[in-house]
Amino acid sequence: MIRGGRPLKGKIEISGAKNSALPCLAATLLTSETVTLHNVPYVKDLITQRRLLEDLGATVLTPELRTHKVSAKNIETFEAPYELVKTMRASVLALGPLLARFGQAKVSLPGGCAIGTRPIDLHLKAFEQLGASVSLESGDVVARAPNGRLKGADVSFEKVTVTGTENVMMAAVLAKGKTTIYNAAREPEIEDLADLLNKMGARIKGAGTETIEIKGVESLGGAEHTIIPDRIETGTFIVAAAITGGELEIKSCQPEHLAAVIEKLREVGVEIEELNQSTLLVKCCEKGLQAKNVTTEPHPKFPTDMQAQYMSLMTQAEGDSTITETIFENRFMHASELIRLGANISFSGTTAIVRGKTRLMGAPVQASDLRASASLVLAALCAEDETLIDRVYHIDRGYEMIVKKLRSVGAEIERITDNLAMSAEEN
Ligand code: EPZ
Repeated sequence: MIRGGRPLKGKIEISGAKNSALPCLAATLLTSETVTLHNVPYVKDLITQRRLLEDLGATVLTPELRTHKVSAKNIETFEAPYELVKTMRASVLALGPLLARFGQAKVSLPGGCAIGTRPIDLHLKAFEQLGASVSLESGDVVARAPNGRLKGADVSFEKVTVTGTENVMMAAVLAKGKTTIYNAAREPEIEDLADLLNKMGARIKGAGTETIEIKGVESLGGAEHTIIPDRIETGTFIVAAAITGGELEIKSCQPEHLAAVIEKLREVGVEIEELNQSTLLVKCCEKGLQAKNVTTEPHPKFPTDMQAQYMSLMTQAEGDSTITETIFENRFMHASELIRLGANISFSGTTAIVRGKTRLMGAPVQASDLRASASLVLAALCAEDETLIDRVYHIDRGYEMIVKKLRSVGAEIERITDNLAMSAEEN
């Protein structure tokens, strides 16, 4: 429940990146030695990933809430079951490490999700190029490496895929010989994973560029690593300051990881000052917000994971803006809910046209996925009266203690019953 209309003021601390912690936790399966990860966000997807590791036979200690000490010494099974994969598609990130270290893996094929069909055909094709046999058996992907070890090869992705790049990188670090990935994804989370793998003894070059080279090694060791800040959480809070006409100091972030977002928001009229390498001061400029068009593309361009939040902001900008989604075929589910709040949005193919500025009025709405739920929270923060957002379990998947963080900067927000565990944490 959110009562809107209050400018947010104060300091917000950014958590670790969900989309880096997920592959980094999967990478712990590559060694029998202990890997310690710091700054792991306390969000539902990471709780699911931890459960997956434990189901495979790993032990995960948490001396602190955001520190995970993982030992995958006694892996007993190489299977990621449907029950887990259906709740979190990122479970497919277990495929590469299991195949690399044990020469076999069985992972339930993830179904579609709210934002698109999201096949993993490119992952599987790449594993075959590394010499694996891959088959589909009763809904499970069964992969085997001949003689128990993959062999290095050239892999060229016909489409940029983030988890595909991560899965192949983790498969190739223990393969025989050299692997080169062409048209690789360049997201900061890829670089963070490569950073961890190199600390474990891998030989990876070029992460963060379109071409990644990996020289396979016999085995990997333990390591200690701190997960990078969450650039999408950072972007979401920048929009929160702008859409409420407030002023926020956003701490423990890494501005260069969301340069395209910051550039676009400055163009729109948001004042974003880098106080230092990890702190941003954000406020809305006197003149208000000007509508600007945007197109989502792979990193380093404007991320699809900020598209929904940007749409909410454009409902409060003067003029018309077009938002073109090029990554996922069904990522405008939030628009119809924003229209329920009074936004003026129409569609033409993969483009949404937002006519601003519109007065938003509180109403019951429901979230369809993680970033859609963030866009509804942002819209509700500037809407008049009360907005009741249903299905917020989506937001708990990727935003750590969002109610507590927003309340700490003046938002009128409360969680209504659904997730007692999370609400206990937040009250
Ligand atoms: C990652 O998903 C992120 N998830 C997503 O964030 C993010 O939206 C996406 O990258 C794009 O940036 C994680 O890192 C856990 P892709 P991923 O493979 O890897 C098609 C969030 O909100 N494709 O880069 O699954 C695919 O359908 C989430 O935190 C194939 O066709 O995305 C899509 O159209 C949502 N075949 C495009 O490529 C494949 O084998 C990009 O998908 C793989 C992908």
